[in-house]
Amino acid sequence: MQRSILQGGYHHPLARQWQGRRQLTKNMLMYPIFITDDPHAEVEIASLPGQKRWGIEKLAGFLGPLVQKGLSSVILFGVPLLCEKDGRGTPADDPNGPVILAIKRLRELFPSLYVATDVCLCEYTSHGHCGLLNPDGTISNGPSVARIAQVAIAYAQAGAHCVAPSDMMDGRVRAIKQGLIDAGLGNKFGHIYAYCQRGYECYLQYRDAAGSTPSFGNRKCYQLPPSGRGLARRAIIRDVSEGADIIMVKPAMPYLDILSEAKTSIAPDHPLACYQVSGEYAMVVAGARAGVYDLRVMAEESIECMIRAGATLILTYFTPQFLDWLDQ
Ligand code: PBG
Ligand code: ZN
Repeated sequence: MQRSILQGGYHHPLARQWQGRRQLTKNMLMYPIFITDDPHAEVEIASLPGQKRWGIEKLAGFLGPLVQKGLSSVILFGVPLLCEKDGRGTPADDPNGPVILAIKRLRELFPSLYVATDVCLCEYTSHGHCGLLNPDGTISNGPSVARIAQVAIAYAQAGAHCVAPSDMMDGRVRAIKQGLIDAGLGNKFGHIYAYCQRGYECYLQYRDAAGSTPSFGNRKCYQLPPSGRGLARRAIIRDVSEGADIIMVKPAMPYLDILSEAKTSIAPDHPLACYQVSGEYAMVVAGARAGVYDLRVMAEESIECMIRAGATLILTYFTPQFLDWLDQ
């Protein structure tokens, strides 16, 4: 005799939706955007199908229709192609550089849009590493932190609502927080999204898109090793203690266990973000093109899993599609 039936509880489509504690809404999506220094650029990124590098003069035409559809937040990545890169990443906070100009332009164009900025030096250093280097090529942490904080504060002063340091230097969250407070911005601009960033093999598309491939070596000694669960816990605990406003796990799908642990035990009182990075996006698109699955079905499933694991905010290159799909 059959004693237990679960299926009746999710036979109806609505009952299936109710199984999720939360459902995706447009406000949970943040769209990553590459901004370059040719003001009229609109250049396809070969390794990220459908994504482009944008010049600031194109932002109104590109983002206007998306804001109409309900886009509520973006995160900006600078792609300087014309500037002179150096050891300390001087172009990162150039007042006439693409990111600072884009922050100002977006705040002007779309007063309700939340503007976040990635903060890192690798797009701006001659060596392509995320911090400043010692003569032997290792990271010089103290000066890196000071420089990262300087850049983050410049973005906040330009009007960024949030700065998201992806450099993974030790102590940068505290330095940024203190810098924001000292600049009188502590209570409005510059929420800090502390990245818990790992899986350095996954960012090849990004490095192609942003021109930030290290000229030697790799990022293994500052980004977290993929296998280390304890190290991820310690990084999150540390960043919370330094004043992070949001914890962000990145990449997303391969690290849902870390996200889930943050939600249930390490940072249950913080909003949690996850970043479906370039490599994950490219993988979903490539699989669909190869006929392995339907693009929309897989994209939706990937996002549902992130929400199930605990994400309240999802950074994804699929944002424009979701703005349409959520209306259907
Ligand atoms: C810069 C940075 C990277 C990403 C975000 N900020 C690349 C990296 O660390 O190599 C990845 C974003 C993506 O892949 O979509 N440190
Ligand atoms: Zn970097």
